[in-house]
Amino acid sequence: MKRILAGLVLSSMLVAHACAGQATPIYGVNLGSWLVLEPWMLPQGWLDMGGQSCAQNCSTCISTESSFAKAYPDTVDTTFAKHWDTWFTQDDVNTLKAAGINTVRVPLGYWIVEALVDRSHESYPRGGLNYLRRGLGWLKDAGIQAILDHHALPGVQTPGQMFTGNCTSEVQFYTPYNYHRALVWTAVMTALSHLDPDFGSVFAIEAINEPIMNATKTPNYGTFQKNFVQVIRAVELILGIFVPSSGLSLSVSPSVSTNFTAALSATSSASIFPVEVQAALLDAVPILLEIGVECGLQAIFETSPFKPSRTSLVANFMDVNWQYDNPSNPADVAIGPQAYDNHLYYSFGGVADADPKSYMTSICNLQRVQADAKVGDSPLWFGEWGLPTQFNATDEFLYKWADAQKLTYSKSAGWIYWNFKTEISTLTNGNALARQWSYLEGLKLGFFTQDPAALHDPNVCAPYINSTTHSTSS
Ligand SMILES: *[C@@H]1O[C@H](CO)[C@@H](O)[C@H](O)[C@H]1NC(C)=O
Ligand SMILES: *[C@@H]1O[C@H](CO)[C@@H](O)[C@H](O)[C@H]1NC(C)=O
Ligand SMILES: *[C@@H]1O[C@H](CO)[C@@H](O)[C@H](O)[C@H]1NC(C)=O
Ligand SMILES: *[C@@H]1O[C@H](CO)[C@@H](O)[C@H](O)[C@H]1NC(C)=O
Ligand SMILES: *[C@@H]1O[C@H](CO)[C@@H](O)[C@H](O)[C@H]1NC(C)=O
Ligand SMILES: *[C@@H]1O[C@H](CO)[C@@H](O)[C@H](O)[C@H]1NC(C)=O
Repeated sequence: MKRILAGLVLSSMLVAHACAGQATPIYGVNLGSWLVLEPWMLPQGWLDMGGQSCAQNCSTCISTESSFAKAYPDTVDTTFAKHWDTWFTQDDVNTLKAAGINTVRVPLGYWIVEALVDRSHESYPRGGLNYLRRGLGWLKDAGIQAILDHHALPGVQTPGQMFTGNCTSEVQFYTPYNYHRALVWTAVMTALSHLDPDFGSVFAIEAINEPIMNATKTPNYGTFQKNFVQVIRAVELILGIFVPSSGLSLSVSPSVSTNFTAALSATSSASIFPVEVQAALLDAVPILLEIGVECGLQAIFETSPFKPSRTSLVANFMDVNWQYDNPSNPADVAIGPQAYDNHLYYSFGGVADADPKSYMTSICNLQRVQADAKVGDSPLWFGEWGLPTQFNATDEFLYKWADAQKLTYSKSAGWIYWNFKTEISTLTNGNALARQWSYLEGLKLGFFTQDPAALHDPNVCAPYINSTTHSTSS
């Protein structure tokens, strides 16, 4: 294979902290339960589809996309097509736009790239990519930017969770085979983000949602972080996209300069990339060729000169402080724009005592932004948070609770609420679930201000601020 890279010196790169071209602050919502369905957010809808509700342990009944696909091999695709078609619609985009939302985070499973599913022992619904493309197109037209969040990883990244698509205690993500599949996914998503016009709203790709917090249980995650960044930058450099602060550029041989898949194939053998990156680029080629045919993108992928008009993507990671026990810091492997994600839920315990005053004292004195900045994990945004509490919250408290969280998160690059909506049914006790989990319901009830930048009370934290707090703990 021809070596088509010239002057690419990966060791001379500088770390960039800027997020070029991105709307800040971020006022966002997650599009949860759309392309990775979590039954707890639509319990009646899930039963209507044919799913089940397990009493305790989600591995014991049909409570995830994989167990559903296994139970209904013949109808799973049509059942999910209906869900994808109705859970997130053009109307939702209009409503979010009117509410001043400028960003969405889109949770995705590895199975959105269907060729990555090993159908000998894995089953997932097929056809999601077309709905993703349609939805991203609506968002682009509305001027809302999108983060592609690799939310459910091959082999699952954390045990016993519906959001991984397979509720199991056997965590196999942190292995060479599954790291490889995640890197191929990254190459495909990067190429689509830059080449498919429907992906024009995408500004960031998140490597992995919520890895296991105990870093001793995520072997070689640091190497994966490094490879994730390099896969994104390799695809961009082939396309002639400028990667800020990297000092990197390359020249593509004229013989492949109108066929992106050929250029990718040729480049994959460049010895400057680690073998894992080369292998991922190479394996992305046939997948992109197939997607090109299926999605009518063949001309763009194979017979068009590259038009490097797009901005380099933000490589997005959960922040280093998400993990403990000597975690690897993604800031150490930055090439070009990078940003960090932290999630904060009080309702699962372990953050503050279960009473309103403790919640307010904790959030008003939160040190996470400062702690991350100290180790280079900046800019940071809060990619998941909500209003849920461990106690029965009054409306009066929820006004303050929404204000105080927004105020604190506004000291970072912004916030992305979980979730844009949840079901309202008898099974959710009317709007009891949506009241504290749905942004659109919270907006309707007045907990959120119509302008996301506003607060009911800008001094909401004043009574709780503890001026002697200088600790870096959260
Ligand atoms: C759930 O059930 C599975 C299978 O019986 C078991 O392996 C796992 O440990 C259980 N998980 C919890 C949290 O009890
Ligand atoms: C779910 O995970 C288990 C444990 O890794 C695996 O054996 C099983 O094949 C997976 N199921 C599907 C449907 O992907
Ligand atoms: C983290 O995981 C290691 C390896 O499984 C274990 O020995 C250690 O006790 C865990 N740490 C905590 C705080 O649970
Ligand atoms: C583009 O390159 C790919 C990969 O090398 C190849 O399979 C395909 O036939 C090429 N397409 C055209 C139109 O030459
Ligand atoms: C300051 O705030 C922290 C929590 O943010 C709390 O643990 C601590 O007790 C407070 N100190 C005083 C003196 O109130
Ligand atoms: C919240 O209210 C419900 C219904 O009134 C009650 O059953 C429940 O025990 C309360 N929970 C707490 C934590 O107070």
